[in-house]
Amino acid sequence: MSTTEIAEKAALHELPPLPYADNALDPVISANTLGFHYGKHHKGYVDTLNKLIAGTELAGLSLEQLINETAGKADKLAIFNNAAQTWNHTFYWRSLRAKGGGEPPAALKQKIETSFGNLDACKKELATAATTQFGSGWAWLVLEGDKLKVLKTGNAETPLTKGAKPLLTIDVWEHAYYLDYQNRRADYVNAVLDKLINWDFAAENLG
Ligand SMILES: [Fe+2]
Repeated sequence: MSTTEIAEKAALHELPPLPYADNALDPVISANTLGFHYGKHHKGYVDTLNKLIAGTELAGLSLEQLINETAGKADKLAIFNNAAQTWNHTFYWRSLRAKGGGEPPAALKQKIETSFGNLDACKKELATAATTQFGSGWAWLVLEGDKLKVLKTGNAETPLTKGAKPLLTIDVWEHAYYLDYQNRRADYVNAVLDKLINWDFAAENLG
Protein backbone atom coordinates (compact mmCIF):
# COMPACT_ATOMS: atom_id res chain seq x y z
CA MET A 1 0.00 0.00 0.00
CA SER A 2 1.40 3.43 -0.95
CA THR A 3 1.74 6.29 1.53
CA THR A 4 -1.15 8.06 -0.23
CA GLU A 5 -3.37 5.00 0.02
CA ILE A 6 -2.54 4.64 3.72
CA ALA A 7 -3.33 8.34 4.32
CA GLU A 8 -6.67 8.03 2.48
CA LYS A 9 -7.61 4.89 4.39
CA ALA A 10 -6.66 6.49 7.72
CA ALA A 11 -8.88 9.47 6.94
CA LEU A 12 -12.05 7.42 6.45
CA HIS A 13 -14.79 8.05 8.97
CA GLU A 14 -16.36 4.90 10.36
CA LEU A 15 -19.87 3.89 11.35
CA PRO A 16 -19.48 3.10 15.06
CA PRO A 17 -21.19 -0.13 16.20
CA LEU A 18 -24.61 0.27 17.85
CA PRO A 19 -24.18 0.14 21.65
CA TYR A 20 -26.92 -2.59 21.85
CA ALA A 21 -28.65 -5.22 19.72
CA ASP A 22 -31.08 -3.86 17.13
CA ASN A 23 -34.06 -5.31 19.05
CA ALA A 24 -32.88 -3.93 22.43
CA LEU A 25 -35.22 -0.91 22.35
CA ASP A 26 -38.29 -2.88 21.27
CA PRO A 27 -41.22 -2.23 21.58
CA VAL A 28 -40.66 1.54 21.98
CA ILE A 29 -38.38 1.52 18.92
CA SER A 30 -38.72 -1.67 16.88
CA ALA A 31 -35.82 -3.63 15.43
CA ASN A 32 -37.24 -2.74 12.00
CA THR A 33 -36.96 1.02 12.69
CA LEU A 34 -33.54 0.63 14.30
CA GLY A 35 -32.27 -1.52 11.43
CA PHE A 36 -33.23 1.05 8.79
CA HIS A 37 -32.24 4.05 10.90
CA TYR A 38 -28.77 2.74 11.74
CA GLY A 39 -28.05 0.51 8.76
CA LYS A 40 -29.39 2.80 6.01
CA HIS A 41 -29.66 6.39 7.30
CA HIS A 42 -26.70 6.63 9.70
CA LYS A 43 -24.52 4.48 7.41
CA GLY A 44 -25.59 6.64 4.45
CA TYR A 45 -24.37 9.83 6.14
CA VAL A 46 -20.97 8.23 6.91
CA ASP A 47 -20.55 6.86 3.38
CA THR A 48 -21.61 10.15 1.75
CA LEU A 49 -19.28 12.14 4.01
CA ASN A 50 -16.32 9.94 3.06
CA LYS A 51 -17.10 10.42 -0.64
CA LEU A 52 -17.48 14.21 -0.27
CA ILE A 53 -14.18 14.76 1.52
CA ALA A 54 -12.03 12.16 -0.28
CA GLY A 55 -8.91 13.82 -1.66
CA THR A 56 -9.79 17.28 -0.28
CA GLU A 57 -8.00 19.32 2.37
CA LEU A 58 -10.77 18.33 4.79
CA ALA A 59 -9.95 14.61 4.58
CA GLY A 60 -7.63 14.54 7.59
CA LEU A 61 -9.94 16.32 10.03
CA SER A 62 -11.80 14.70 12.92
CA LEU A 63 -15.58 14.71 12.79
CA GLU A 64 -15.79 17.57 15.32
CA GLN A 65 -13.20 19.60 13.39
CA LEU A 66 -15.14 19.02 10.16
CA ILE A 67 -18.39 20.20 11.75
CA ASN A 68 -16.79 23.37 13.10
CA GLU A 69 -14.87 24.02 9.88
CA THR A 70 -17.94 23.75 7.60
CA ALA A 71 -20.70 25.22 9.83
CA GLY A 72 -22.40 28.23 8.27
CA LYS A 73 -20.52 27.94 4.95
CA ALA A 74 -22.97 27.70 2.06
CA ASP A 75 -20.43 26.05 -0.26
CA LYS A 76 -19.71 23.34 2.35
CA LEU A 77 -23.33 22.62 3.30
CA ALA A 78 -23.39 19.01 2.06
CA ILE A 79 -20.23 18.18 4.00
CA PHE A 80 -21.57 19.89 7.13
CA ASN A 81 -24.90 18.06 6.85
CA ASN A 82 -23.33 14.63 6.51
CA ALA A 83 -20.65 15.24 9.17
CA ALA A 84 -23.14 16.62 11.68
CA GLN A 85 -25.67 13.85 10.97
CA THR A 86 -22.92 11.27 11.49
CA TRP A 87 -22.05 12.83 14.86
CA ASN A 88 -25.68 13.43 15.91
CA HIS A 89 -26.71 9.82 15.26
CA THR A 90 -23.79 8.32 17.20
CA PHE A 91 -24.77 10.63 20.07
CA TYR A 92 -28.46 9.67 19.75
CA TRP A 93 -27.80 5.91 20.02
CA ARG A 94 -25.90 6.55 23.23
CA SER A 95 -28.70 8.81 24.54
CA LEU A 96 -30.99 5.73 24.62
CA ARG A 97 -30.80 2.41 26.41
CA ALA A 98 -32.99 -0.59 27.16
CA LYS A 99 -34.87 0.01 30.43
CA GLY A 100 -33.96 3.69 30.40
CA GLY A 101 -36.03 6.55 31.76
CA GLY A 102 -36.59 6.67 35.53
CA GLU A 103 -34.49 8.86 37.80
CA PRO A 104 -31.24 10.54 36.75
CA PRO A 105 -28.08 10.05 38.87
CA ALA A 106 -27.96 12.41 41.90
CA ALA A 107 -25.58 15.07 40.51
CA LEU A 108 -27.56 15.41 37.27
CA LYS A 109 -30.88 15.36 39.10
CA GLN A 110 -29.76 18.23 41.29
CA LYS A 111 -28.67 20.20 38.24
CA ILE A 112 -32.03 19.48 36.57
CA GLU A 113 -33.87 20.73 39.66
CA THR A 114 -31.78 23.91 39.76
CA SER A 115 -32.39 24.59 36.06
CA PHE A 116 -35.99 23.41 35.51
CA GLY A 117 -37.55 23.07 38.99
CA ASN A 118 -38.02 19.31 38.76
CA LEU A 119 -37.51 16.31 36.48
CA ASP A 120 -41.05 16.39 35.08
CA ALA A 121 -40.61 20.01 33.99
CA CYS A 122 -37.35 19.09 32.25
CA LYS A 123 -39.01 16.15 30.45
CA LYS A 124 -41.95 18.34 29.49
CA GLU A 125 -39.63 20.95 28.00
CA LEU A 126 -37.77 18.26 26.05
CA ALA A 127 -41.09 16.85 24.78
CA THR A 128 -42.28 20.31 23.74
CA ALA A 129 -39.04 21.02 21.87
CA ALA A 130 -39.23 17.62 20.16
CA THR A 131 -42.85 17.99 19.09
CA THR A 132 -42.67 21.65 18.02
CA GLN A 133 -39.52 21.33 15.90
CA PHE A 134 -41.07 22.02 12.49
CA GLY A 135 -39.97 19.37 10.01
CA SER A 136 -36.80 17.39 10.56
CA GLY A 137 -34.42 17.98 13.44
CA TRP A 138 -33.37 17.23 16.97
CA ALA A 139 -34.26 18.03 20.61
CA TRP A 140 -31.34 18.39 23.02
CA LEU A 141 -30.55 18.69 26.69
CA VAL A 142 -27.41 20.83 26.86
CA LEU A 143 -25.11 22.48 29.36
CA GLU A 144 -24.69 26.18 28.68
CA GLY A 145 -22.43 27.93 31.16
CA ASP A 146 -23.40 26.20 34.40
CA LYS A 147 -27.10 25.77 33.57
CA LEU A 148 -28.98 23.07 31.75
CA LYS A 149 -31.12 24.10 28.82
CA VAL A 150 -33.34 22.46 26.21
CA LEU A 151 -32.66 23.31 22.57
CA LYS A 152 -34.17 22.23 19.30
CA THR A 153 -32.25 22.27 16.03
CA GLY A 154 -33.39 21.88 12.41
CA ASN A 155 -32.11 19.27 9.94
CA ALA A 156 -28.46 18.46 10.80
CA GLU A 157 -27.82 21.48 13.06
CA THR A 158 -26.07 20.66 16.33
CA PRO A 159 -25.41 22.53 19.61
CA LEU A 160 -21.69 21.85 19.05
CA THR A 161 -21.55 24.97 16.87
CA LYS A 162 -23.68 27.06 19.24
CA GLY A 163 -21.44 27.15 22.31
CA ALA A 164 -23.47 24.57 24.20
CA LYS A 165 -22.36 21.13 25.40
CA PRO A 166 -24.80 18.37 24.37
CA LEU A 167 -25.84 15.99 27.17
CA LEU A 168 -28.45 13.96 25.29
CA THR A 169 -30.58 14.13 22.17
CA ILE A 170 -33.79 12.83 20.61
CA ASP A 171 -33.94 12.41 16.83
CA VAL A 172 -37.25 13.78 15.51
CA TRP A 173 -36.67 13.15 11.81
CA GLU A 174 -39.60 11.06 10.54
CA HIS A 175 -37.23 8.17 9.82
CA ALA A 176 -36.74 7.86 13.61
CA TYR A 177 -40.38 6.94 14.30
CA TYR A 178 -42.57 6.70 11.20
CA LEU A 179 -42.52 2.89 10.82
CA ASP A 180 -43.65 2.48 14.46
CA TYR A 181 -45.74 5.61 15.12
CA GLN A 182 -46.59 7.03 11.66
CA ASN A 183 -47.41 10.72 12.26
CA ARG A 184 -47.66 10.43 16.08
CA ARG A 185 -44.36 12.09 16.94
CA ALA A 186 -45.53 12.99 20.46
CA ASP A 187 -46.19 9.31 21.29
CA TYR A 188 -42.66 8.39 20.16
CA VAL A 189 -41.10 11.26 22.12
CA ASN A 190 -42.99 10.55 25.34
CA ALA A 191 -42.26 6.82 25.14
CA VAL A 192 -38.56 7.56 24.60
CA LEU A 193 -38.47 9.95 27.58
CA ASP A 194 -40.30 7.50 29.88
CA LYS A 195 -38.69 4.23 28.81
CA LEU A 196 -35.45 4.69 26.89
CA ILE A 197 -33.72 7.94 27.77
CA ASN A 198 -30.24 7.30 29.16
CA TRP A 199 -29.74 9.68 32.09
CA ASP A 200 -26.44 7.96 32.93
CA PHE A 201 -25.06 9.02 29.54
CA ALA A 202 -26.24 12.61 30.12
CA ALA A 203 -24.60 12.57 33.57
CA GLU A 204 -21.30 11.35 32.05
CA ASN A 205 -21.41 14.22 29.58
CA LEU A 206 -21.80 16.75 32.40
CA GLY A 207 -18.09 15.96 33.08
FE1 LIG B 1 -32.01 9.93 12.24
